[in-house]
Amino acid sequence: MTRVLFVCLGNICRSPTAEGVLRHMLDEMPDAPEVEIDSAGTGGWHVGNPPDPRAIEAAARRGIDLSALRARQVTAADFDAFDYVLAMDRDNLRNLKALRPAQGGAALKLLLEFGEGGEVPDPYYGGEAGFDRAYALIEGACRGLIREIQARE
Ligand code: 4NP
Repeated sequence: MTRVLFVCLGNICRSPTAEGVLRHMLDEMPDAPEVEIDSAGTGGWHVGNPPDPRAIEAAARRGIDLSALRARQVTAADFDAFDYVLAMDRDNLRNLKALRPAQGGAALKLLLEFGEGGEVPDPYYGGEAGFDRAYALIEGACRGLIREIQARE
């Protein structure tokens, strides 16, 4: 069993998208590795809220339903509860490094280390195209992440 936590700022756009995409890919895979998946935000403003309607729509266009997800804030305990804590951008990564306990066991990385490198830009203040771009970056990285998990198991 591998445990993966995706983290962005608000937990309403990028990280719930990653949660839904990875879960969907594994659901569709024969002989999928066993993976526990969750997402969280470094900020607490949207705790308890469903994903942003634009993120729900971008995922729905690809047959993925994010509507039941609810935002939560990341905690220091998450570094023990997960094997991978994967940040969407360098701001998230810096905040996570500050939160990580000295003995925190999780591997802490940028998600796009498993994809095309760099960051998933925050789509919150932009239009639909930003959500489609975020989706594509996340999808590519999730394919790479599955290969990493398969190699680990
Ligand atoms: P996310 O996007 O980090 O991908 O969930 C954002 C959501 C909300 C805000 C910023 C980014 N906000 O400022 O409220």
